[in-house]
Amino acid sequence: MNKKVKAAITGVAGYVPDYVLTNEELSQMVDTTDEWIMTRIGIRERRILKEEGKATSDMAAKAVKRLLKKTGTRAEEIDMLVWCGVTGDMLFPATSNVIADKAGAVNAFGLDINAGCSSFLFSLITVSQYIENGRCKKIVLVGAEKMSAITDYTDRSTCPLFGDGAAAVLIEPVNEELGIIDSILRTDGSGRKHLYQAAGGSLRPPTMETVLRRQHYIYQEGQAVFKAAVSKMADTSMEIMERNGLTSDTVDWLVPHQANMRIIDATGNRMGLPREKVMVNIDKYGNTSAATIPLCLWDWESKLKKGDNIVIATFGAGFSWGAIYLKWAYTGVRDESKK
Ligand code: UT7
Repeated sequence: MNKKVKAAITGVAGYVPDYVLTNEELSQMVDTTDEWIMTRIGIRERRILKEEGKATSDMAAKAVKRLLKKTGTRAEEIDMLVWCGVTGDMLFPATSNVIADKAGAVNAFGLDINAGCSSFLFSLITVSQYIENGRCKKIVLVGAEKMSAITDYTDRSTCPLFGDGAAAVLIEPVNEELGIIDSILRTDGSGRKHLYQAAGGSLRPPTMETVLRRQHYIYQEGQAVFKAAVSKMADTSMEIMERNGLTSDTVDWLVPHQANMRIIDATGNRMGLPREKVMVNIDKYGNTSAATIPLCLWDWESKLKKGDNIVIATFGAGFSWGAIYLKWAYTGVRDESKK
């Protein structure tokens, strides 16, 4: 009997810029303190891409090149390269095309996907269909963001939150019961009024006025987003556990979007998970939007084992949110370049 082909993550690699923006430095830019940021958000520092003329695609291409090296994949073998996020190099052409060019993925077709901070999870489920239906054999999905490009460093309510970074995964077919097992993805566009970048698109093209009004930066009503994030991330995580017969004992890891430590704790607590099972790196990278989840997988790769039950949960602008259940496909750091 033919078993259904599953799509699995078979490698992960990341890149973060060197510059470390600390709470101390932020407190010299706006009226804030390390204590406020640590207790309300849980971020100690974040990375910032400072180099002149460098963009999201530069970080993404570095992550992709590391991924190809680690997994022993030639750039020409990639069938599809997807970049996801909200801070593309330009409105067009698609940033995936720029990344494919920089990484040498000459046979890949490129696609950009934007689902706010939920971009990585939405894209993972979308591209996995191309593996399951046999259209593609090797897909690279990279979540990368230069959030510093749209962060207003005079606004203390948003500037401590965000950081820059990139991480890429390789997605391939597997014939075992591994990889992506189930997903719940949802959007509610009526939440768009709470989190957006007002100008620069077709609704409000850039003018002197939009610049003076600081409308090219992130606008967020923190409390409204916080409330929705806590309930939606926890609800969908519980739903995915229940419908797959998972319990707090059989879930090995929760990978939550890294927006606020209090949202992460609320989700982990609802699922009944001890802190050791929850991946957290918000303290050192902040909210890197589409890159938070693959950056967690990269940081935790050495601890993951084949068959581990992983729940990934997300929430972001849109509103867009969801949770997925996957079984990890390999044990320890996959690094073919060291063999
Ligand atoms: O990834 C996309 C999804 N985004 C999120 O999930 C973010 C969700 N929201 C949050 O994480 C939180 O709402 C924030 C961290 C953004 C804000 O935390 P909060 O506990 O909701 O604070 P708040 O906005 O209610 O502000 C409380 C107080 C206010 O002062 P008053 O009015 O009580 O005097 C703010 O002016 O804290 C003040 N405040 C600050 N104080 C020191 C706001 N930002 C700062 C700051 N430093 N950086």
